[in-house]
Amino acid sequence: MDEYLNVGKTYLVTGGAGFIGANFVKYMLEKYADIKLVVLDKLTYAGNLGTIREELKDSRISFVKGDICNRELVENIFMQHDIDYVVNFAAESHVDRSIENPQIFLETNILGTQNLMEVAKNFWTIGKDSNGYPIYKEGKKFHHVSTDEVYGSLSKDFDIPKELILDEAVRKIATGRKNLQTYGEKMFTESTPLDPRSPYSASKTASDMIVMSYGETYKFPFNITRCSNNYGPYHFPEKLIPLIIKNILAGKKLPVYGKGDNVRDWLYVMDHCKGIDMVISKVEAHEIYNIGGFNEEQNINIVKLTIDTIARIMKEEPKYQSVLSTDLSNINYDLITYVQDRLGHDSRYAIDPTKIVTELGWYPETPFTEGIEKTIRWYLDNQEWVAEVTTGDYQGYYDKIYKER
Ligand code: NAD
Ligand code: TYD
Repeated sequence: MDEYLNVGKTYLVTGGAGFIGANFVKYMLEKYADIKLVVLDKLTYAGNLGTIREELKDSRISFVKGDICNRELVENIFMQHDIDYVVNFAAESHVDRSIENPQIFLETNILGTQNLMEVAKNFWTIGKDSNGYPIYKEGKKFHHVSTDEVYGSLSKDFDIPKELILDEAVRKIATGRKNLQTYGEKMFTESTPLDPRSPYSASKTASDMIVMSYGETYKFPFNITRCSNNYGPYHFPEKLIPLIIKNILAGKKLPVYGKGDNVRDWLYVMDHCKGIDMVISKVEAHEIYNIGGFNEEQNINIVKLTIDTIARIMKEEPKYQSVLSTDLSNINYDLITYVQDRLGHDSRYAIDPTKIVTELGWYPETPFTEGIEKTIRWYLDNQEWVAEVTTGDYQGYYDKIYKER
């Protein structure tokens, strides 16, 4: 732990009751005895206190319900706590919802991020240098959690994936990962031009750019990480993997958009949290890192592998069959239903994480077969959480969406 610079630090974790934010809270409390976390979350449909129920009993954490766009509220938090790091997970995060109603994405993702930075800048500034730039208190940083979707969409060059050959320097570190594959010639690097194509990714790009502009204009201390599609426990069942798991267990159809041949790179959420922790604690301000999973796959194959894994677990461990609202023999590919494609559906995302691997020694340790099994087992053991977070307009929203497709 000595190599990390975060002993005794206080983190403001926004969006800490959502999927990745909550996993980050769990990761940090487990890893560091001597930290404080202040979680700020608006508790939208995607944020649930049940996700961090146990953690909220810990004296190292305090929770504030509220909006990152609220200036007075964020100022009060900075007045009450000597915040060292802001880790900004709070966002509207679902592409389909951004197509339905873009405005809230602009408000939260852009204006909310700017509001947080403005308050942090004011509280962290202790003077001005001879050129008029702010001088900040030592060691303060704003960590912005971004996405590979800011880079746009890559071409899918191969129908049958080819072996992904890693550079020697990366291979030496990522020793735990073998038999990697890719569907294209190119991957996103940190210098790939930003080229968002959905209202969601446009809002995330705008937030990245306002963060970078603070870095230039005010020398504001920030880092940005851009990750690929996360999966794991506590994932709200509107994104592909948790939705598919939920529907399989309920014996419901599995909606696959278009031909199911869009490619995503899947990153196990705890690997992502480890990468964020490393960047916050080890890296100078103003650096940007890609965090990827070395795990490109077509959606249809993700769905099939999820079906296969659930069917196998059910057969091996009959105790889980009580979770099913269907006959075990119904867990098969017949559940797959091809539905109308998403508007402007990005074809392929693939991340080149060479920078974080070679500079920080991070790599995505969890192979997909292992990660998906852990994820499925978590959902099998936590059906109460699924029931708790899918109340309200959840079913109505999905009935409407899929009727239209
Ligand atoms: P999520 O939708 O599960 O959680 C978002 C959280 O933010 C929720 O708890 C919600 O209540 C909270 N929130 C929303 N608006 C808020 C506001 N105005 N003020 C305060 N809190 C608010 O999202 P996630 O999947 O955990 O994603 C976290 C971050 O990671 C986001 O910035 C997202 O863009 C980014 N990201 C996610 C993925 C992924 O695969 N999930 C991939 C790349 C990047
Ligand atoms: P999603 O989990 O929404 O993440 P993102 O759009 O940020 O990549 O979707 C992952 C992929 O799965 C994407 O190509 C869209 C597709 N998809 C389906 O085919 N069916 C679904 O029900 C959902 C939610 C997504």
